[in-house]
Amino acid sequence: MHKDIAEILFTEEEIARRVGEIGSAITRDYADVAEEGVVLVSVLRGAAIFMADLARAIDLPVEMDYMAISSYGNGAKSSGVVRILKDLSSEIAGRHVIVAEDILDSGLTLKYLLKNLSSRGPASLTVATLLRKRTLAQADIDCAYVGFECPDQFIVGYGLDFAERYRNLPYIGVLKSEVY
Ligand code: IMP
Ligand code: MG
Repeated sequence: MHKDIAEILFTEEEIARRVGEIGSAITRDYADVAEEGVVLVSVLRGAAIFMADLARAIDLPVEMDYMAISSYGNGAKSSGVVRILKDLSSEIAGRHVIVAEDILDSGLTLKYLLKNLSSRGPASLTVATLLRKRTLAQADIDCAYVGFECPDQFIVGYGLDFAERYRNLPYIGVLKSEVY
């Protein structure tokens, strides 16, 4: 285990199994629109690893697109300020869009993103989040797919960073508080 990690919450094997289950659920749920397929949208950079694995667990035509928005600086607290740094490359009007998110904390990022994406007229719009923090102040967001509920602590690994570090840890763990 990395020296800065206090506790492993989800191992590499547990993540792989859960991502596989979500992929199977999506494959089932979108069977009726299998011809059109789905567009996976991820928010760079944290969710890219989850989306890469999720895409391979879905047995449908899958397109992958990316957005970059910022609601965090290098710190650990949500600022509530969201800016689009990079927009999608393709149009999503009339498409079945699934937003792959790494972690839902305050929900401010996703709330903004969903409003923005729905204004582009997708045929459907759902959310697959790998992690959902058990926090009191969370925007009311309907997530069709949730990987794991996690404690309200600072979490890194499998795409999640602190100051751009720890994204490459294959597991998800709690960062030691003395690190931030
Ligand atoms: P929200 O807007 O507060 O829901 O924050 C969502 C974004 O903040 C996520 O997509 C992450 O990029 C980042 N974030 C929130 N909590 C954590 C955490 O515990 N570790 C790392 N990044 C986090
Ligand atoms: Mg993110």
